[in-house]
Amino acid sequence: MSQCHRVAVIPGDGIGREVVPEGLRCLQAAAGVHGFMLETVEFGFACAEYWQRHGELLPPDWKDVLGGYDALFFGAVGWPEVVPDHISLWGSLLEIRRGFDQYVNLRPVRLLRGVRSPLRDHGPGDIDFVVVRENTEGEYSRIGGRIFEGTDRETVLQETVLTRIGVDRVLRYAFDLAAARPRRHLTWATKSNGIAVSMPYWDERAAAMAQRYPDVTADKDHIDILAAKFVLRPGQYDVVVAGNLFGDILSDLGPACAGTIGIAPSANINPDRTWPSLFEPVHGSAPDIAGRGIANPVGQIWSGAMLLDHLGEQAAAAGMVAAIEKVLAGRPEVLTPDLGGPGTTESLGKAIAEEIAAG
Ligand code: NAI
Ligand code: MG
Repeated sequence: MSQCHRVAVIPGDGIGREVVPEGLRCLQAAAGVHGFMLETVEFGFACAEYWQRHGELLPPDWKDVLGGYDALFFGAVGWPEVVPDHISLWGSLLEIRRGFDQYVNLRPVRLLRGVRSPLRDHGPGDIDFVVVRENTEGEYSRIGGRIFEGTDRETVLQETVLTRIGVDRVLRYAFDLAAARPRRHLTWATKSNGIAVSMPYWDERAAAMAQRYPDVTADKDHIDILAAKFVLRPGQYDVVVAGNLFGDILSDLGPACAGTIGIAPSANINPDRTWPSLFEPVHGSAPDIAGRGIANPVGQIWSGAMLLDHLGEQAAAAGMVAAIEKVLAGRPEVLTPDLGGPGTTESLGKAIAEEIAAG
């Protein structure tokens, strides 16, 4: 009997609801070709509509509801007209990342055939790196507060949290990843010249980890010049590991250098596999284009490929990425407007699904 993977699907808000169906179409096409089953169950929480009805983003028992699935396939959450962004993100995605201890946020950056990089003179093959972002602690903490509110002594403190366990495990993941890639190079992002307590600690742990990986060449860049070099010399990077805040910024900047944020995938991984991992495009709910059927579904579809890779379906995952590349390079008439084409979410999703099905 063929293997069956059970996937919980959470479309969320805005274009999340438009790109998720195309992601599922392509996942099912891959399942058909590669001989496994995919059972998907859709959930209507983690969106503005649910919040309006229930006053919260997730049901209280969300961990039991989702915990038994093999993976989570997520669209995007956020509808600032209805729910303030800090509530929608903290109440859903950040809650899931922490609750399921998805401490690695993995974001590949690759210039695909058929996509013109905004950085002139870079061709496919020149840009191919992965950003590994710490996903559970760091600057994204709720520790802090305000005192003397509303007076001229008003004071605000927000703390950064680094734990040795949290730092070491994400560094180890990144070094393992670098060791398995052909170039075996790792760069860690820091700012120890300015942030004088937490960042020197991060550097210390990274340097100690580097000692254990003699086959990996490792160096560090301060975040400011690192951001500049993503634009000036993106080809020099292989694996880039960063804390939560710097990693968040780099992992939007990286994909932007490789064309459009609409194609960028991401994985929130619980490497010990105690809990399901979550796969989602890098982009948000894009209220400015939502409802028009023109959102690029490639980020969602590529996230689906990462989901299959995580579930052990490497051939199917590679087939999905190859199909994406083939359609981007050879079917200009189906491409969405952000790629310069006249197509729609559905025309692009269908073309990729057909290409997957053709094997
Ligand atoms: P966004 O990623 O939604 O949009 C940024 C820009 O990129 C917009 O101009 C949008 O039209 C364009 N864009 C994004 N995805 C696209 C696609 N697939 N195809 C074509 N164009 C695309 O970021 P923004 O505007 O900062 O945030 C909007 C909402 O999404 C907010 O509520 C925010 O909190 C939320 N958000 C949620 C994320 C998540 O669920 N992981 C991540 C980022 C933002
Ligand atoms: Mg972000």
